[in-house]
Amino acid sequence: MSVHLTEPENLVLQARDVRFDWSQVPLHWIPGDPVATHLVNVLHLLLPAGEEWFVRVFKEAVPHIADDRLREDVLGFIGQEAVHASSHDGVLDHFMEQGLDVRPFVRQAEFLFEGLLGDRNLTGDRKRAWLYERISLIAAIEHFTGVLGDWILNAEALDEAGADPTMMDLLRWHGAEEVEHRHVAHDLFMHLDGSYPTRLRAMAETITMLATLWHRGHRFLMAADPVVKGRIKGGVHHLRRTGPAGLTPDGRMVAASVRRYLKRSYSPLNEGSTSQALAYLASSPAAQAALR
Ligand SMILES: [Fe+2]
Ligand SMILES: [Fe+2]
Repeated sequence: MSVHLTEPENLVLQARDVRFDWSQVPLHWIPGDPVATHLVNVLHLLLPAGEEWFVRVFKEAVPHIADDRLREDVLGFIGQEAVHASSHDGVLDHFMEQGLDVRPFVRQAEFLFEGLLGDRNLTGDRKRAWLYERISLIAAIEHFTGVLGDWILNAEALDEAGADPTMMDLLRWHGAEEVEHRHVAHDLFMHLDGSYPTRLRAMAETITMLATLWHRGHRFLMAADPVVKGRIKGGVHHLRRTGPAGLTPDGRMVAASVRRYLKRSYSPLNEGSTSQALAYLASSPAAQAALR
């Protein structure tokens, strides 16, 4: 349940410094539930490469922006996503130290974001079309990061299950910044292109891509986990248990948010609460550790 207070206006987006100490975080940071732990962990496999891709694409978009406010938002977005990518990289190092070798799947994520979705050495109109195409995909992906950010801020079932506080802080700090900047990618797409059919197509492609990556990523982690050793087969079908239990996002909640995205009247500002996000960011232990 989102907290709806008076929403702040004219917010300047800025990257926040954070410090995480992973040394005490157990491999199965949702105690006794490697299945749910790894459903969330798929994020860590995808985000470093995915968010570095956001940064490259948005840097390319900056010279095309004819609105000072939007340019400022995009620059703030770029700064935040760069810190997110490096923070999730820190988790991957910790997984490696615990005997969970994530490199084969990370290489696949890098191939996707640097190869398939990377620069194609195009020029002129084709270069611009490929830029706008990728921005439409990022806008659709950012719908999900905003919805997931709102979800994790309110995921009390994870606290009740004893989820590790450092991991919860990473997810909630990141989720709160996703809520804070949830309008930027959509605003950029609407400013440069704004085509409704493109928006629909990008969402269809994004759903296909994310569902495939989540399924494969979870199967990979369950097989590579040095404790589970493949005894439980991974896959997104596990969401049927973990979603209603509140340990992962619920499929019906996500589907309802997609139906809102598909409307012409969609506004990302109607997803989640900026004031709740800012309240979390003001109290995040990792942000306070960086200040010390
Ligand atoms: Fe992010
Ligand atoms: Fe984001």
